[in-house]
This record gives sequence, structure tokens and C-alpha cells, in this order.
Amino acid sequence: MSELAIFPLTSEHKMLRDAARDFARKEIAPIAAEFDESGEFPYKTIKKMGEMGFMGIEVPENYGGAGMDTLAYVLALEEICKVDASHGVIMSVNNSLYCHGLLKFGTEEQKQRFVSPVASGQVIGAYSLTEPMSGSDAGTIKTRAVRAGDEYIINGRKSWVTSGPVAEFVVLFAMTDPQQGHKGVSAFLIDTKQPGFVRGKKEPKLGIRASATSELLFEDYRCPIENRLGAEGEGFKIAMTVLDAGRIGIASQALGIAEAAYEAARQYAGEREAFGQKIGQFQGTGFKIADMKTRIEASRLLIYNAALAKEKTKHNGGRYSQEAAMAKLFASETAMFVAHQAVQIHGGMGYSKELPVERYFRDAKITEIYEGTSEIQRMVISRAEMGLR
Ligand code: CAA
Repeated sequence: MSELAIFPLTSEHKMLRDAARDFARKEIAPIAAEFDESGEFPYKTIKKMGEMGFMGIEVPENYGGAGMDTLAYVLALEEICKVDASHGVIMSVNNSLYCHGLLKFGTEEQKQRFVSPVASGQVIGAYSLTEPMSGSDAGTIKTRAVRAGDEYIINGRKSWVTSGPVAEFVVLFAMTDPQQGHKGVSAFLIDTKQPGFVRGKKEPKLGIRASATSELLFEDYRCPIENRLGAEGEGFKIAMTVLDAGRIGIASQALGIAEAAYEAARQYAGEREAFGQKIGQFQGTGFKIADMKTRIEASRLLIYNAALAKEKTKHNGGRYSQEAAMAKLFASETAMFVAHQAVQIHGGMGYSKELPVERYFRDAKITEIYEGTSEIQRMVISRAEMGLR
């Protein structure tokens, strides 16, 4: 079920969702296990996703995107992640952490140069905030951008950058005025072909292994002033605004993983027999199935609600931080819960590499960590409740 009575889908939504589902089943499903095993980046299928319009779903057509809304984005992402969360995170970062920020804060020239090739999937975009000593406490980054005439000279080390090993362009956050704390952070558009940009070591990971994650090093990288995104000192707000959009993407990724794990478990429980009956007929398994299904549908409601809240802000302004945080928190914890139960229902087969269930279990964990841990989401939600944001 990916339709809810209170969120009726238009025919365009259904067409996009069905196209993403077909693509994922035909093109990604046959290679997902192999790329997970090898850790190779799936260039070919990502390129095809660009041609299908999946890499810039909310980007207007004149900037190379599909010109659709946030609900369309989450529907398509869910379908891709149901088959492979690695393809899903590459798509999510490209759409929300990269294109969304540029569309919202970029100049016309920046949009023409930096959005079009990424939204159309010709090249890949990345977002780089985290550093080895600055993760959840994002206002403490050390990477330094020093103004020198019409340029900034950037030095520092970034970590955990999704698509870092392959991105052509990166939205980078660096300190222009360390005395000002988070108000001294600025954002920059980095062309990775320029000197002074070095790709660091690729991270070996538990899950989403076909997506590439690395450190990025800046060694006297010279960034022209026209490639600063937003005003000097506006970087922290840009980073946070963009993460609100990103968190809806990761929630959709978690939903896709949960659905895949649930479907596998439901089917297995209806086939496997023990003690003279299907294991799904035992109350112990049936109650697991009921809890899995209920949490999945509740996640979907929160995600669609966050997508519509984001859509509203396009016209009325304002923030949807709390809606996005609730969607990510609940959907990611649901993905872990469901994947855990799915392995348990499968018994030994859930632990085997012969089935994708163990991959869903490994892939689910990161959704509770990146783009803000579950603890950070709880902070965002409770601060909004207490009027502290
Ligand atoms: N939108 C707009 N503005 C925001 C905002 C938002 N969502 N959140 C905060 N702000 C503003 C505040 O209004 C405040 O503005 P003023 O200075 O004008 O008052 C300013 O930003 C500072 O806000 P806080 O005092 O709340 O800041 P904080 O230091 O307490 O941090 C936080 C808040 C929510 C904990 C934040 O640091 C955070 O989200 N941390 C997690 C970072 C994160 O998610 N990192 C993941 C990076 S990406 C990744 O995982 C890798 C990848 O490639 C996918």
C-alpha cells in the first residue's frame, strides 16, 4: 500500500511512482546484491536514473529537473529504496542536500552552472558539513575560508561525505569568522576539478555499501567569491534549512527499507511451516507482522505530512523542521525495528547472504545516524515543543 485515504495522489504522482517502481525492479534489483558485496559505485544505473528525471525531481525543468513536488520526490525515493538503499541515498543527497539548497539560496548564475548538470544526472552533487571533530554539534566546524581579494582560500578536512569520492560539485560549509560561532559559518560551491581539492579515504561501511562515502581535504583551495552560496555568515542557517529537506528524504529511504523487509517477512511467514502450520499462523509471528505493518503506515503518514508541510513553505515561508524530524525519527526507528523482526522471522535464512533480508538489516542502521541522529531529531522536536528553537 502506498496510497492513503487522506493523501490522495494525482495521476502524475502515480505515474512517477510506477516508473520508479518499474525501474527499480528491472534495472536495480538484478545488481543490488553484487554492488553491495563489491562496494563498487553503480555509475550506470545512477546515470539512467538521471535520464529518468529522478535526480532532480523538484527542480524546475528550466534547470534540468522534473519540476514536480515533494510528495512526488518521496514516492519515487521510497520505490528506489525498497529495492536498494544505496541507490536511494545517492538520489536523496543529489535531490535534497544539493539541489534544494542551491535552488533556495543560489543566484541565477549559480543555478545555471551548478544545478542543471546535477539535476539532470550528468554529474553528481554532494553536501559537506561534518568534520572528524564536529558531527552532531555542527556549529563547531574548523574548516577555514579566508577572504583574499575576490577569492576565499579554503583549508580543512571534512568527513562522512556521501558521494564524496564521485561528486563533481560540493556544497561546502566553512568558517569565515571563527569568533562568531555558528554565525561565522558560510557556504561555498566547490568545483572538484580545481586544484586544492583532494578526495580522502573512502569509508568501509556496514550498510549502503554501493554508495560511496569519504573524507574531503581542502589544501589552499581557491574559491571565487561568486561561488559563495548566500551571504557571509549565513552558512549555518543554510545547512540547517537544507537538512530539514534532507531528513524527509532519509525518512523515505527508511520507509523503503522497512517495506522491503516487511514484504519479505510476510511472504516467508505465509510459506514456511513449523510444528504443523505456517509460522504466520502462530500468534507470536502474527503480532510481529501487525506491529511491523502499523509502524510502516504510521511512518508513511508522517513522511507525507512532512512533504506537504515543506510544500506549504514554498508559498507561505516558515519552517517544517519539526515535521521533518518526526518523520525521520519514526521512520528510521521503524526501519530498524522491521528489519530486526524480518531477520528473526526468517531465522537462519535471515542471517544468510542468499536472501536480501540481512542487507535490509545492515542498510537500516544508517538511517538512525546520518543527517542527524535520532537523538538530534528528538532535540529538534522537543525544542520546537518547548518554544526553544
Ligand atoms: N532552519 C533554519 N534555521 C535554523 C534551523 C533550521 N532547521 N535550525 C537552527 N536554525 C537557526 C536557529 O534559529 C538559530 O538562529 P539564530 O542564531 O538567528 O538564533 C541558529 O540556527 C542556531 O540554532 P541552534 O541554537 O538551535 O543551534 P545548535 O548549535 O543548538 O544546533 C542542532 C542545533 C539541531 C543540534 C544542529 O546542530 C543539528 O541539526 N545538528 C546535527 C547536524 C547533522 O544533521 N549533521 C549531518 C550532516 S550530513 C550527513 O549526515 C552526511 C551526508 O553526506 C548525508
